[in-house]
Amino acid sequence: MQNKNSIMAHPKRIGILTAGGDCPGINAAIRGVGKTAIVRHGMEVIGISSGFAGLIHKEYTPLSEEKLSGILTLGGTILGTSREKPFKKKGKGTIDKPELIKKNYKELGLDCLVCIGGNGTQKTAYQLSELGMNVVGIPKTIDNDVFGTDFSFGFDSALSIATDAIDRLHTTANSHKRIMVIEIMGHHAGWLTLYAGMAGGGDVILIPELSYNPKVVNQYLKMRAERKKPYSIVVVAEGISRPDGTLSAADYVSKLIEKGTGVETRKTILGYLQRGGSPSANDRILATRFGSHAVDLIVNEDYGKMVVSKDAQIASISLQEVAGKTRLVPADYPLITKARSLDICMGDSCITSKNSSDA
Ligand code: F6P
Repeated sequence: MQNKNSIMAHPKRIGILTAGGDCPGINAAIRGVGKTAIVRHGMEVIGISSGFAGLIHKEYTPLSEEKLSGILTLGGTILGTSREKPFKKKGKGTIDKPELIKKNYKELGLDCLVCIGGNGTQKTAYQLSELGMNVVGIPKTIDNDVFGTDFSFGFDSALSIATDAIDRLHTTANSHKRIMVIEIMGHHAGWLTLYAGMAGGGDVILIPELSYNPKVVNQYLKMRAERKKPYSIVVVAEGISRPDGTLSAADYVSKLIEKGTGVETRKTILGYLQRGGSPSANDRILATRFGSHAVDLIVNEDYGKMVVSKDAQIASISLQEVAGKTRLVPADYPLITKARSLDICMGDSCITSKNSSDA
Protein backbone atom coordinates (compact mmCIF):
# COMPACT_ATOMS: atom_id res chain seq x y z
CA MET A 1 0.00 0.00 0.00
CA GLN A 2 1.41 3.39 -0.90
CA ASN A 3 2.16 5.59 2.09
CA LYS A 4 0.19 8.80 1.91
CA ASN A 5 3.48 10.59 2.48
CA SER A 6 5.01 8.99 -0.57
CA ILE A 7 2.69 11.09 -2.67
CA MET A 8 3.51 14.16 -0.61
CA ALA A 9 5.98 16.66 -2.07
CA HIS A 10 7.88 16.79 1.20
CA PRO A 11 7.78 13.85 3.60
CA LYS A 12 8.35 15.03 7.17
CA ARG A 13 11.93 14.81 8.44
CA ILE A 14 12.28 14.20 12.16
CA GLY A 15 15.21 14.04 14.55
CA ILE A 16 15.36 11.83 17.66
CA LEU A 17 17.64 12.50 20.62
CA THR A 18 18.13 10.71 23.95
CA ALA A 19 19.31 12.77 26.90
CA GLY A 20 19.97 12.37 30.64
CA GLY A 21 20.63 9.15 32.52
CA ASP A 22 20.32 6.08 30.34
CA CYS A 23 17.99 3.17 31.15
CA PRO A 24 16.54 0.02 29.59
CA GLY A 25 13.85 0.78 27.03
CA ILE A 26 15.38 3.78 25.26
CA ASN A 27 16.12 1.76 22.13
CA ALA A 28 12.58 0.37 22.20
CA ALA A 29 11.32 3.96 22.17
CA ILE A 30 13.67 4.92 19.32
CA ARG A 31 12.39 1.89 17.40
CA GLY A 32 8.77 2.82 18.17
CA VAL A 33 9.26 6.33 16.80
CA GLY A 34 11.41 5.24 13.85
CA LYS A 35 9.36 2.34 12.57
CA THR A 36 6.06 4.20 12.87
CA ALA A 37 7.53 7.24 11.10
CA ILE A 38 9.38 5.38 8.35
CA VAL A 39 7.18 2.37 7.62
CA ARG A 40 3.73 3.82 8.36
CA HIS A 41 4.23 7.41 7.26
CA GLY A 42 7.21 7.45 4.88
CA MET A 43 9.02 10.03 6.97
CA GLU A 44 12.79 10.57 7.09
CA VAL A 45 14.38 9.99 10.50
CA ILE A 46 17.79 10.99 11.84
CA GLY A 47 19.29 9.96 15.17
CA ILE A 48 21.09 12.77 16.96
CA SER A 49 24.14 11.71 18.96
CA SER A 50 24.68 12.31 22.69
CA GLY A 51 21.52 14.20 23.52
CA PHE A 52 21.43 17.97 23.04
CA ALA A 53 25.24 18.00 22.58
CA GLY A 54 24.70 16.33 19.22
CA LEU A 55 22.43 19.16 18.13
CA ILE A 56 25.03 21.72 19.17
CA HIS A 57 27.81 19.92 17.28
CA LYS A 58 25.55 18.68 14.43
CA GLU A 59 26.44 15.02 15.09
CA TYR A 60 23.81 12.64 13.76
CA THR A 61 23.21 9.49 11.76
CA PRO A 62 20.33 8.66 9.38
CA LEU A 63 18.06 5.97 10.80
CA SER A 64 16.61 3.33 8.50
CA GLU A 65 14.35 0.35 9.10
CA GLU A 66 17.48 -1.82 8.94
CA LYS A 67 19.27 0.29 11.59
CA LEU A 68 16.23 -0.10 13.86
CA SER A 69 16.15 -3.86 13.51
CA GLY A 70 17.19 -5.87 16.60
CA ILE A 71 17.27 -2.94 19.06
CA LEU A 72 13.97 -3.59 20.89
CA THR A 73 15.70 -5.74 23.51
CA LEU A 74 18.95 -3.78 23.61
CA GLY A 75 19.81 -1.87 26.79
CA GLY A 76 21.29 1.62 26.77
CA THR A 77 20.83 3.95 23.76
CA ILE A 78 22.25 3.42 20.26
CA LEU A 79 22.44 7.22 19.93
CA GLY A 80 24.41 7.80 23.13
CA THR A 81 23.35 10.38 25.70
CA SER A 82 24.69 13.32 27.71
CA ARG A 83 23.57 15.67 30.45
CA GLU A 84 24.18 18.74 28.24
CA LYS A 85 21.94 21.61 29.41
CA PRO A 86 22.04 24.17 26.56
CA PHE A 87 20.12 26.82 28.50
CA LYS A 88 22.40 26.64 31.52
CA LYS A 89 24.08 30.04 31.83
CA LYS A 90 27.82 29.91 31.07
CA GLY A 91 30.55 32.53 31.33
CA LYS A 92 30.86 35.50 28.99
CA GLY A 93 32.07 34.82 25.47
CA THR A 94 30.78 31.24 25.38
CA ILE A 95 28.64 30.25 22.39
CA ASP A 96 24.90 30.81 22.48
CA LYS A 97 23.94 27.14 22.51
CA PRO A 98 20.18 27.57 22.09
CA GLU A 99 20.68 29.77 19.00
CA LEU A 100 23.19 27.26 17.60
CA ILE A 101 20.71 24.46 18.17
CA LYS A 102 18.01 26.45 16.37
CA LYS A 103 20.38 27.11 13.45
CA ASN A 104 21.38 23.44 13.19
CA TYR A 105 17.75 22.33 13.50
CA LYS A 106 16.99 24.43 10.41
CA GLU A 107 20.12 23.38 8.51
CA LEU A 108 19.27 19.74 9.16
CA GLY A 109 15.88 20.44 7.61
CA LEU A 110 13.98 19.06 10.59
CA ASP A 111 10.20 19.33 10.86
CA CYS A 112 10.21 18.07 14.43
CA LEU A 113 12.54 17.00 17.24
CA VAL A 114 11.63 14.02 19.47
CA CYS A 115 13.28 14.37 22.89
CA ILE A 116 13.50 11.17 24.93
CA GLY A 117 14.49 11.97 28.50
CA GLY A 118 13.66 12.79 32.11
CA ASN A 119 12.38 16.00 33.70
CA GLY A 120 15.51 17.97 32.79
CA THR A 121 15.24 16.92 29.16
CA GLN A 122 11.56 17.81 29.01
CA LYS A 123 12.31 21.26 30.42
CA THR A 124 14.93 21.83 27.69
CA ALA A 125 12.47 20.52 25.11
CA TYR A 126 9.91 23.09 26.27
CA GLN A 127 12.50 25.88 26.11
CA LEU A 128 13.39 24.89 22.55
CA SER A 129 9.70 24.91 21.62
CA GLU A 130 9.55 28.45 23.00
CA LEU A 131 12.32 29.33 20.51
CA GLY A 132 10.04 28.19 17.70
CA MET A 133 11.14 24.59 17.14
CA ASN A 134 8.58 21.80 16.78
CA VAL A 135 9.19 19.43 19.68
CA VAL A 136 7.59 16.28 21.13
CA GLY A 137 8.76 14.74 24.44
CA ILE A 138 8.83 11.11 25.61
CA PRO A 139 9.27 10.53 29.39
CA LYS A 140 12.20 8.26 30.23
CA THR A 141 13.75 7.62 33.64
CA ILE A 142 14.21 4.89 36.22
CA ASP A 143 13.22 7.51 38.83
CA ASN A 144 9.61 7.73 37.57
CA ASP A 145 9.66 11.40 38.62
CA VAL A 146 8.54 13.05 35.37
CA PHE A 147 5.49 15.21 36.07
CA GLY A 148 2.22 14.39 34.32
CA THR A 149 2.70 10.69 33.58
CA ASP A 150 1.85 7.74 35.86
CA PHE A 151 4.87 5.89 34.56
CA SER A 152 8.01 6.64 32.57
CA PHE A 153 9.67 3.76 30.81
CA GLY A 154 12.85 2.55 32.54
CA PHE A 155 11.10 2.41 35.91
CA ASP A 156 9.71 -1.12 35.50
CA SER A 157 13.08 -2.55 34.44
CA ALA A 158 14.87 -0.90 37.35
CA LEU A 159 12.13 -2.13 39.69
CA SER A 160 12.77 -5.73 38.57
CA ILE A 161 16.54 -5.32 39.07
CA ALA A 162 16.14 -3.78 42.53
CA THR A 163 13.55 -6.35 43.61
CA ASP A 164 15.81 -9.22 42.52
CA ALA A 165 18.66 -7.67 44.51
CA ILE A 166 16.53 -7.37 47.64
CA ASP A 167 15.37 -10.98 47.23
CA ARG A 168 19.03 -12.02 47.27
CA LEU A 169 19.72 -10.05 50.42
CA HIS A 170 17.10 -11.98 52.37
CA THR A 171 19.06 -15.25 52.12
CA THR A 172 22.39 -13.82 53.23
CA ALA A 173 20.78 -11.73 55.98
CA ASN A 174 19.09 -14.87 57.28
CA SER A 175 22.30 -16.88 57.21
CA HIS A 176 24.15 -14.30 59.30
CA LYS A 177 21.20 -12.98 61.33
CA ARG A 178 22.11 -9.50 60.13
CA ILE A 179 20.30 -6.28 59.23
CA MET A 180 20.85 -5.51 55.54
CA VAL A 181 20.56 -1.93 54.23
CA ILE A 182 20.17 -1.47 50.47
CA GLU A 183 20.33 1.92 48.73
CA ILE A 184 18.11 2.43 45.69
CA MET A 185 18.43 5.15 43.03
CA GLY A 186 15.71 7.70 42.37
CA HIS A 187 17.42 11.09 42.64
CA HIS A 188 15.10 13.23 44.82
CA ALA A 189 12.08 10.90 44.48
CA GLY A 190 11.20 7.71 46.34
CA TRP A 191 9.15 5.87 43.70
CA LEU A 192 11.70 3.16 42.94
CA THR A 193 12.51 2.65 46.63
CA LEU A 194 8.86 2.43 47.66
CA TYR A 195 7.91 -0.05 44.92
CA ALA A 196 11.07 -2.17 45.28
CA GLY A 197 10.76 -2.12 49.06
CA MET A 198 7.21 -3.42 48.84
CA ALA A 199 7.97 -5.95 46.09
CA GLY A 200 11.12 -7.17 47.88
CA GLY A 201 9.54 -7.52 51.31
CA GLY A 202 11.42 -4.70 52.99
CA ASP A 203 10.81 -4.24 56.72
CA VAL A 204 11.85 -0.58 56.73
CA ILE A 205 11.41 1.70 53.70
CA LEU A 206 12.87 5.23 53.82
CA ILE A 207 12.00 7.68 51.04
CA PRO A 208 12.89 11.39 50.63
CA GLU A 209 9.23 12.45 50.75
CA LEU A 210 8.75 11.21 54.33
CA SER A 211 10.99 12.49 57.14
CA TYR A 212 12.28 9.69 59.34
CA ASN A 213 13.34 9.40 62.98
CA PRO A 214 16.42 7.19 63.53
CA LYS A 215 15.16 6.36 67.04
CA VAL A 216 11.84 5.09 65.62
CA VAL A 217 13.72 2.96 63.08
CA ASN A 218 16.05 1.50 65.72
CA GLN A 219 13.21 0.86 68.17
CA TYR A 220 11.28 -0.95 65.43
CA LEU A 221 14.29 -3.10 64.50
CA LYS A 222 15.02 -3.91 68.16
CA MET A 223 11.36 -4.93 68.60
CA ARG A 224 11.74 -7.27 65.60
CA ALA A 225 14.83 -8.83 67.17
CA GLU A 226 13.00 -9.26 70.49
CA ARG A 227 10.20 -11.00 68.58
CA LYS A 228 12.86 -13.42 67.32
CA LYS A 229 12.77 -12.15 63.74
CA PRO A 230 16.09 -13.58 62.53
CA TYR A 231 17.00 -10.63 60.29
CA SER A 232 15.69 -7.35 58.81
CA ILE A 233 15.82 -5.68 55.40
CA VAL A 234 16.06 -1.87 55.25
CA VAL A 235 15.44 -0.24 51.84
CA VAL A 236 16.59 3.39 51.57
CA ALA A 237 16.35 5.92 48.76
CA GLU A 238 19.61 7.60 47.75
CA GLY A 239 17.94 10.98 48.24
CA ILE A 240 16.88 10.73 51.89
CA SER A 241 18.00 13.58 54.12
CA ARG A 242 21.00 13.04 56.34
CA PRO A 243 22.97 15.42 58.54
CA ASP A 244 26.12 15.55 56.50
CA GLY A 245 25.74 15.11 52.77
CA THR A 246 29.13 13.46 52.54
CA LEU A 247 28.04 9.92 53.40
CA SER A 248 25.81 7.89 51.07
CA ALA A 249 22.36 7.16 52.42
CA ALA A 250 23.29 3.50 52.91
CA ASP A 251 26.49 4.45 54.79
CA TYR A 252 24.64 6.82 57.08
CA VAL A 253 21.67 4.56 57.82
CA SER A 254 23.67 1.34 58.29
CA LYS A 255 25.99 3.04 60.78
CA LEU A 256 23.12 4.54 62.79
CA ILE A 257 21.31 1.19 62.87
CA GLU A 258 24.32 -0.88 63.97
CA LYS A 259 25.11 1.70 66.66
CA GLY A 260 21.51 1.99 67.81
CA THR A 261 20.53 -1.71 67.78
CA GLY A 262 23.81 -3.51 68.41
CA VAL A 263 22.89 -5.87 65.54
CA GLU A 264 25.52 -6.60 62.89
CA THR A 265 24.54 -4.48 59.87
CA ARG A 266 25.82 -4.45 56.29
CA LYS A 267 25.08 -2.14 53.34
CA THR A 268 24.66 -2.55 49.58
CA ILE A 269 24.53 0.37 47.13
CA LEU A 270 22.82 -0.95 44.01
CA GLY A 271 23.87 2.01 41.86
CA TYR A 272 24.09 1.73 38.10
CA LEU A 273 23.00 -1.89 37.95
CA GLN A 274 19.49 -0.37 38.07
CA ARG A 275 20.14 1.35 34.72
CA GLY A 276 21.71 -1.59 32.88
CA GLY A 277 20.66 -4.49 30.74
CA SER A 278 17.73 -5.40 28.55
CA PRO A 279 14.32 -3.75 29.17
CA SER A 280 11.51 -5.62 30.89
CA ALA A 281 8.53 -6.70 28.79
CA ASN A 282 6.43 -3.90 30.28
CA ASP A 283 9.05 -1.29 29.43
CA ARG A 284 9.38 -2.59 25.88
CA ILE A 285 5.63 -2.21 25.44
CA LEU A 286 5.36 1.20 27.17
CA ALA A 287 8.35 2.62 25.26
CA THR A 288 6.97 1.34 21.96
CA ARG A 289 3.52 2.82 22.69
CA PHE A 290 5.13 6.14 23.66
CA GLY A 291 7.22 6.19 20.48
CA SER A 292 4.33 5.41 18.20
CA HIS A 293 2.08 8.00 19.86
CA ALA A 294 4.79 10.62 19.47
CA VAL A 295 4.60 10.09 15.69
CA ASP A 296 0.79 10.41 15.81
CA LEU A 297 1.31 13.84 17.37
CA ILE A 298 3.80 14.75 14.62
CA VAL A 299 1.43 13.60 11.85
CA ASN A 300 -1.24 15.88 13.36
CA GLU A 301 1.36 18.64 13.86
CA ASP A 302 0.35 18.65 17.53
CA TYR A 303 3.72 19.94 18.76
CA GLY A 304 4.89 21.17 22.16
CA LYS A 305 3.49 18.06 23.83
CA MET A 306 4.85 15.18 25.92
CA VAL A 307 3.45 11.69 25.59
CA VAL A 308 2.11 10.33 28.91
CA SER A 309 0.64 7.17 30.41
CA LYS A 310 -2.56 8.01 32.34
CA ASP A 311 -4.62 5.20 33.90
CA ALA A 312 -2.88 2.80 31.46
CA GLN A 313 -3.98 4.91 28.47
CA ILE A 314 -1.47 6.74 26.25
CA ALA A 315 -2.20 10.44 25.89
CA SER A 316 -0.29 13.72 25.84
CA ILE A 317 0.04 16.94 27.83
CA SER A 318 1.71 20.24 27.04
CA LEU A 319 5.42 20.50 27.75
CA GLN A 320 4.61 23.81 29.43
CA GLU A 321 2.74 21.86 32.15
CA VAL A 322 5.73 19.54 32.67
CA ALA A 323 8.69 21.91 32.51
CA GLY A 324 10.52 22.53 35.77
CA LYS A 325 8.41 20.13 37.82
CA THR A 326 9.28 16.87 39.57
CA ARG A 327 6.72 14.18 40.44
CA LEU A 328 7.22 13.09 44.06
CA VAL A 329 5.47 10.39 46.08
CA PRO A 330 2.43 11.93 47.86
CA ALA A 331 2.42 11.25 51.63
CA ASP A 332 -1.01 9.64 51.29
CA TYR A 333 -0.05 7.52 48.26
CA PRO A 334 -2.05 4.22 48.48
CA LEU A 335 1.09 2.07 48.52
CA ILE A 336 2.36 3.97 51.57
CA THR A 337 -0.94 3.38 53.31
CA LYS A 338 -0.71 -0.30 52.46
CA ALA A 339 2.85 -0.48 53.77
CA ARG A 340 1.77 1.01 57.06
CA SER A 341 -1.11 -1.47 57.38
CA LEU A 342 1.44 -4.28 57.01
CA ASP A 343 3.45 -2.64 59.84
CA ILE A 344 6.29 -1.86 57.46
CA CYS A 345 8.24 0.96 59.07
CA MET A 346 8.28 4.11 56.90
CA GLY A 347 10.64 5.74 59.38
CA ASP A 348 8.15 8.11 60.99
CA SER A 349 5.88 5.86 63.05
CA CYS A 350 5.30 2.11 63.27
CA ILE A 351 2.59 0.03 64.94
CA THR A 352 5.18 -2.27 66.52
CA SER A 353 7.15 0.55 67.99
CA LYS A 354 4.32 3.05 68.50
CA ASN A 355 5.39 3.48 72.12
CA SER A 356 8.60 4.95 70.75
CA SER A 357 6.79 7.71 68.87
CA ASP A 358 8.06 10.09 71.54
CA ALA A 359 11.52 8.70 70.84
O1 F6P B 1 18.11 9.95 36.81
C1 F6P B 1 18.56 8.64 36.84
C2 F6P B 1 19.69 8.51 37.82
O2 F6P B 1 20.15 7.19 37.82
C3 F6P B 1 19.31 8.89 39.24
O3 F6P B 1 18.54 7.89 39.88
C4 F6P B 1 20.67 9.08 39.82
O4 F6P B 1 20.66 9.87 41.00
C5 F6P B 1 21.39 9.80 38.68
O5 F6P B 1 20.76 9.36 37.48
C6 F6P B 1 22.87 9.52 38.59
O6 F6P B 1 23.39 10.44 37.62
P1 F6P B 1 24.69 10.09 36.74
O7 F6P B 1 24.30 9.02 35.78
O8 F6P B 1 25.01 11.40 36.06
O9 F6P B 1 25.74 9.64 37.71
